[in-house]
Amino acid sequence: MASSSANKKQKPVVIEAAARPALLLDWYDRHRRRLPWRPLQGDRADPYAVWLSEIMLQQTGVKTVGPYFEKFMARWPDVGALGRASLDDVLRMWAGLGYYSRARNLHACAVAVLRDHGGVFPDTEKGLRTLPGIGPYTAAAIAAIAFDRRTMPVDGNIERVVSRLFAVEESLPQAKPLIQQLAATLLGPSRAGDSAQALMDLGSSICTPKKPACALCPLNDGCAARIRGDQEAFPRKAPKKSGELRCGAAFVVTRGHELLVRSRPEKGLLGGMTEVPNSSWLAAQEDEAALQQAPELKGVTRWHRKAGVVTHVFTHFPLQLVIYTANVPARTRAPEGMRWVPIATLADEALPNVMRKAIAHGLGD
Ligand code: ADE
Repeated sequence: MASSSANKKQKPVVIEAAARPALLLDWYDRHRRRLPWRPLQGDRADPYAVWLSEIMLQQTGVKTVGPYFEKFMARWPDVGALGRASLDDVLRMWAGLGYYSRARNLHACAVAVLRDHGGVFPDTEKGLRTLPGIGPYTAAAIAAIAFDRRTMPVDGNIERVVSRLFAVEESLPQAKPLIQQLAATLLGPSRAGDSAQALMDLGSSICTPKKPACALCPLNDGCAARIRGDQEAFPRKAPKKSGELRCGAAFVVTRGHELLVRSRPEKGLLGGMTEVPNSSWLAAQEDEAALQQAPELKGVTRWHRKAGVVTHVFTHFPLQLVIYTANVPARTRAPEGMRWVPIATLADEALPNVMRKAIAHGLGD
């Protein structure tokens, strides 16, 4: 048409905001990532697989989650199987993924779905929110992806895409409600789960934190940050206060081919996980004060301090552990609340990464 080509010459064509949902889905159909929990295009999602993956993805990246997801699905193929499993088995299978309260909630949730919902997940955000371990984000993700409810879960990737698209000036986390509202404008009349996953994929492959590949983005036309040329400045973030360094000591005690361990209290950080005896973790704690908290063991008159330290970064604080070792005679009794485990079977213990590092350091040359 003559008039439309004349229009094109006069001003750049800016894609209408109303066209974005369809553009996004069209891009997703061509470029969606193949992920172990995603059904093939057009197939129905399995709510159990969606829930399991979303819990694992809460604080862990897609690459790390993949093998864990597959191991869980092979061992416990449905929510009933997981609900009948022992918590210890679930924690053992989870070992290495971190944030162990997720594994406890995962198990508690499977038990609740089995006991209170006849083994069928509720299909609304409200119903899902009543279950252990399912907060607002996860409820929205499961409702959208598994049940096609018209809702938009907003994760870090989506926050970045949306804050750039609309050049949101407010900083995170205050900007979250606004970003949530703006993200919802990218939903079409159906396929909410695909719209959300399209934004997640876009955020991870194209709208990346550094050097976004805007030329490949289906929403580049009309992206406010791109027009300004300062995409990397979004999302705006308030300066971060990182936790203070905590210090402590861990005690790696061997009795021949066995190692002295104990279980952490059920509640709190790394709840119920296995650990070697260790001191409190305190800011600016002197090594000497940490050594005072060594377990009392017959036959240990002095501790050998290993050179170097083990460091680990938790969400709220970095930790530095000094490692002390001792070797005790055969038949030395474990102090109360502790036990000997064969070093050869340590892989079967629910050991958090920080303890794996401490043990490797203590047992190393
Ligand atoms: N992060 C959280 N949920 C996800 C999903 N369904 N696909 C990809 N990344 C995700």
